[in-house]
Amino acid sequence: MSASVPALLLDWYDRHARDLPWRMPPGGREPDPYRVWLSEVMLQQTTVAAVKPYFAAFTARWPTVEALAATPEADVMAAWAGLGYYSRARNLVKAARAVAELGGFPDTEEELRALPGLGAYTAAAVAAIAFARRAVVVDANVERVVARLFAIAEPLPGGRKAIRARAGDITPEARAGDFAQAMMDLGATVCTARDPRCLLCPLSAVCLGRADGDPARFPVKAARKPKPMRRGTAWWIEREGAVWLVRREGRGMLGGMRALPDDGWSARADGSAAPVAQALGLVRHGFTHFDIELSVARRREPLGEGEWWPIDRIGEAGLPTLFAKAARLALA
Ligand code: ADE
Repeated sequence: MSASVPALLLDWYDRHARDLPWRMPPGGREPDPYRVWLSEVMLQQTTVAAVKPYFAAFTARWPTVEALAATPEADVMAAWAGLGYYSRARNLVKAARAVAELGGFPDTEEELRALPGLGAYTAAAVAAIAFARRAVVVDANVERVVARLFAIAEPLPGGRKAIRARAGDITPEARAGDFAQAMMDLGATVCTARDPRCLLCPLSAVCLGRADGDPARFPVKAARKPKPMRRGTAWWIEREGAVWLVRREGRGMLGGMRALPDDGWSARADGSAAPVAQALGLVRHGFTHFDIELSVARRREPLGEGEWWPIDRIGEAGLPTLFAKAARLALA
């Protein structure tokens, strides 16, 4: 069965590949490694629809890795605002500088892996897609497709080892980049998390999950713990058409981003904070490992080191989504 998977899948990809701005058509020449790398970093934990406008803005403003490498980190962080997982943006700048120093992207999975912020997934994806190297590329979509194809019953996260091994079995020597992207497209459009569309699937005849009767039960997941809730307060300090913004501490949560000053909720794991009298209201936001309820309250005097930012240009401050929500509340 494993032997027929690449041929069936690549044949499907030749007809159904999604047209995406960082891609070359199936079987075409290799794309620009800079665009592949940038898109793969943006696409981690983020949907294609959310990435598209950011990818367009970044490549218009920084058409090459050298241009990105020459940009101050703060400008890149501000342009990243709204995409989330901001450590990606910090590592993006570091990796761009390392690549510029090297005189270009290295073209093997191993050397790519040595760049700042390039994990196993990104290194494999760039090696396969940009440099036609055989590399085993496993993201959440691929994980789902493989778990179903082989009816892997061991729950995640333990089951990931078997999934990776099976993904390795079906990855071809030739067209590994197209193969990886075909798996991603299949996962995103056909072998979807809920209600997989098996009637449209090129692999349905060889799929053990389908033969088993309920492919959607794969990948099996261990029961999830509920996310903890944190609470905190952010301050809206306004004077003569300007608002007081600070820059968050380098390494911590949302580090390096502009923000409203707050009560330090991100360093507290206990979730408790005395509710603030006369708050303007509450905003809610979900991060990966916790949810937050942030009270937004007015205050007169500036707090910490910061700058007065014109309120009519608040959209250009590069506030991460949590603080953009707080600003919208204060201005409503
Ligand atoms: N998700 C992550 N990388 C992708 C790619 N190259 N194409 C489509 N979806 C993706």
